Amino acid sequence: MRKLSTDYVDLYLIHWPSEAVPLEESLRAMEKLHEEGKVRFIGVSNFDVALLEKARMLTTLPILTDQVEYHPYLSQKPLLEYCQKHRIILTAYSPLARGRLFGDPLLQDIARKYGKTVSQVVLRWLIEQDMVVAIPKAKDAKHQRENLDIFDFSLTQEEHEAIARLDRGEKVASRL
Ligand SMILES: NC(=O)c1ccc[n+]([C@@H]2O[C@H](COP(=O)([O-])OP(=O)(O)OC[C@H]3O[C@@H](n4cnc5c(N)ncnc54)[C@H](OP(=O)(O)O)[C@@H]3O)[C@@H](O)[C@H]2O)c1
Repeated sequence: MRKLSTDYVDLYLIHWPSEAVPLEESLRAMEKLHEEGKVRFIGVSNFDVALLEKARMLTTLPILTDQVEYHPYLSQKPLLEYCQKHRIILTAYSPLARGRLFGDPLLQDIARKYGKTVSQVVLRWLIEQDMVVAIPKAKDAKHQRENLDIFDFSLTQEEHEAIARLDRGEKVASRL
């Protein structure tokens, strides 16, 4: 918090499930930070359905989000259905698959149809799904502007389904 020049954080996540520290212990510590007013909301990251369920059972605080890799080449169907049922935000990280999907012909066709870029189509596809938010990373100011300019078009149901069929279980992120 000193480094962030703040006296509280809005959202504090467990980055990866830990084999060394029991989940209960981490959640107790997060609850304490919440009670002290240092953390407004808590969440997890890289948790599958079973672990997310376990986390929910171990704390009285709501788990605001599960941040996981999610993009057209990596389906998160079971986790997303669980999040939608329990009103937990699924935060899509590496939502552009770090550029690996820019050459995809279907995404390029849809982008052409709307006069948008592949990044914009992918981000729109993500945020149009119930309970999904996306956190693209962009250093380039042009990319940043482009990624924000996605609120003036909508994808059809057929396009949603066609993009979902691009899933090939491809992960771009690995545990550090
Ligand atoms: N919780 C976790 O375990 C976890 C794991 C991995 C990542 N993350 C988080 O997820 C966020 C994003 O993930 P990521 O960086 O892995 O992947 P990403 O957002 O899918 O891809 C980032 C790459 O896409 C480029 N890009 C962004 N917008 C673009 C656009 N409109 N047109 C063309 N290229 C564009 C960026 O280029 P420029 O930078 O040059 O603009 C960068 O090279 C990060 O904030 C990261 O911290 C979390």
